[in-house]
Amino acid sequence: MPYFWRTPLVSSKRRMLYLDHAATSFPKPPEVLDAVSRWYRELGVDAARGTSERHEAVQLEVAECRHQLHKLTGMRNVAFTSGTTEALNLFLRGFLDRGDVVWSTALEHNAVVRPLHELSRSRDIKTRWFRPDPAQPAVTWEQIATALNDNAPPRLLVYNHASNVTGAIQDFSPIASELRAAGARVLVDCAQSAGSLDLTGLDADAIALSGHKGLYGPPGIGALCMREDLGVSPLLAGGTGSDTNTDEMPDDLPGRLESGTPNTPGIFGLNAGLRFVATRSIAAIHAHENEWIDLLRERLTDLERAGKLALIGADPEREHTAVLSVVIEGVDPLEAAMALEQHGILVRAGFHCAAYVHDVLGTQRTGTVRISPGMFNAIEEVDAVAAAIGVTIA
Ligand SMILES: Cc1ncc(COP(=O)(O)O)c(C=O)c1O
Repeated sequence: MPYFWRTPLVSSKRRMLYLDHAATSFPKPPEVLDAVSRWYRELGVDAARGTSERHEAVQLEVAECRHQLHKLTGMRNVAFTSGTTEALNLFLRGFLDRGDVVWSTALEHNAVVRPLHELSRSRDIKTRWFRPDPAQPAVTWEQIATALNDNAPPRLLVYNHASNVTGAIQDFSPIASELRAAGARVLVDCAQSAGSLDLTGLDADAIALSGHKGLYGPPGIGALCMREDLGVSPLLAGGTGSDTNTDEMPDDLPGRLESGTPNTPGIFGLNAGLRFVATRSIAAIHAHENEWIDLLRERLTDLERAGKLALIGADPEREHTAVLSVVIEGVDPLEAAMALEQHGILVRAGFHCAAYVHDVLGTQRTGTVRISPGMFNAIEEVDAVAAAIGVTIA
C-alpha cells in the first residue's frame, strides 16, 4: 500500500479518506511534486522565450509532454490550455459559425452546456440535446445513428465520454466515421476518462482533457488535442515567442492557439503525471478504481432494497468509471456530506456542475452525494465508508 494513501488534510491531525477524485485527484504522486519543484528550483524559464541550455531543457520536457498526450489520445496536434473548460471553449468558440447545428447530450458538464447556451444567443447556434435512458444512464451511439437517418448531419457532435455524476460511459465511436464522412466533426470531453479509459479508439476530431484528475498532474493545465488542423481560431491573441515582430498571430499549431506566458510548471507536473499513469497502466488503474466502487455498491445494496437510500450510478453490468452518486432518504446531500466528514470521509455534495443530467436522474431538487475513489484508495476502505453511510441513515 503506498505510504501516502491516507494523507492528513490541511492542518488537521485527523486523517481523511479522500473520495473526490472526480473533482481533482489527491494526493499527487511524489514524482509530480518533484517535477513541478524542479522547474521552480532549477529552471524557471519558458520553452519559447529564449535559447539557453535551460531553455533547451524546458523545451525537451514540453515536447515530451506533447508527445505523451499524442500517445494518450492518438491526436498529433496538442495545444495546452488551463484545463478541459478552456479546451472545450477554445474549440466551440473557435470552430462554430453563425447558425451551425450542434448535437450533444444531457450528460454534459457546464463546460459544454454554458458555452453552447451562450453561443445559441450570440451566434444563433442550434443545439439538440439527446437524453439517455435513466436506467443506463448514457446516450447510445444507436440514438445518434437513428437521428442521422432522419436528419441532416450536425456541424459538430460534442459529448461527455464519462459522466462526472454517475460514471456512465458514452462512446459514439461506432457512428463517428459515418458522421465524419457526412461532414460533421466530433469533439469529446475526456475530463473524467483521461487516465481511466483508452482514448485512442474514439475516432474523434478533437479531445479536451484536464491534467489534474485521472492524469494526477497539478491543476491549471490541460489540453485540446486535435487530429488535424481544422482552422480553429484562438480565444486570445498575444505573444507566442515566435514571429514576434509581426502584429498577426502565427498560422501554425500549436502557436496559433497558445498566447501568453504558458503554465510551464504545470506542464512539468502533467508530464510526470502522464509518465506515472503510463507506468502503472491505465487498464490497471481503471480495474482497481472500479473494484473499489463496485464493492461499495454491493455493500450498500441492502440499504437500497430497504428503501433507505438510492444508488445513482452507471449500470454496473456495463463498463463505467469509478463514480457513484448516492441519495440518502430524508437527508439533504449537503448534510450527508457534512456527516461523512465527521467520520473522516471527504466526498462532494450537490449538482456537480452538470445542469441537465439531474432532470434525467430525478435528482433535480437536491443533487447527490458523489463518491469517487482514485488509484491510492485501498479496497479495505470500502467497509468504513459503507458503515459511515449506514450510521448517517440511522
Ligand atoms: C465531465 C467534465 N467536463 C469538464 C470539466 C471541467 O474540467 P476543468 O475544471 O478541469 O476545466 C469537468 C470537471 O469536473 C468534468 O467533470
